[in-house]
Amino acid sequence: MLIAGSIIGGNVLNIEEIIKISEEAGVDWLHLDIMDGNFVPNITFGLDFVKKIRQKTYLPLDIHLMVIDPEKYIQFSNYCNMINFHIETTYFPLRIIENIRKNNPEVKVGVAVNPSTSISFLENMEGYIDNILIMTVEPGFAGQKFIPNTLNKIEKAKKIIEGWEKKPFISVDGGINSQNYKLVLERGANYIVCASYLYEDYSSIKQKVLMMKKQLYK
Ligand code: DX5
Ligand code: ZN
Repeated sequence: MLIAGSIIGGNVLNIEEIIKISEEAGVDWLHLDIMDGNFVPNITFGLDFVKKIRQKTYLPLDIHLMVIDPEKYIQFSNYCNMINFHIETTYFPLRIIENIRKNNPEVKVGVAVNPSTSISFLENMEGYIDNILIMTVEPGFAGQKFIPNTLNKIEKAKKIIEGWEKKPFISVDGGINSQNYKLVLERGANYIVCASYLYEDYSSIKQKVLMMKKQLYK
């Protein structure tokens, strides 16, 4: 089970501090939310910023594109270890995946899915993806409330990939906290993205990471 710290949950005026405390707390990945003000109403950061973060940390970087026309963002895959785009933004996800892999054969590729979008597309993705990113809030903002209906989708995803030789991560993103992390893990998630809950108090990040990881061994 892996934990990704979503950096927009911290004090973004001091990114270096967020990186440092994430490393010290034993976070497995850093999750970078790229919002374009079109697919989602919010705007975060761009390529130059991602490049700078790449130089500052040894942690693997997980990019979450919340953008229309993800094809235009393929170069981001040169500066991260995993890149995710939204299924809602394209009719041709397999082509985008292929183009990302052509650009960077090393990078993991994931597909993100909004709370009200069906997960059935996953049935046709065997061998293509390394991650299924199940949104547990509507994308666009940190600090929103977890949507319980999404729990069924985690279970469905787990069933779909059951027979696959190479299983993608089942990740969840949005509203994860002490009240619900057990629920998502029980249903089959093995990769938790967390912003507000993790970074609301810098002194307790390590403890929260440990607590969530222990759950796996129960
Ligand atoms: C939401 C982003 C999430 C966000 C999670 O649009 O994709 O990654 O950072 O924030 P919390 O954990 O506060 O819901
Ligand atoms: Zn995200």
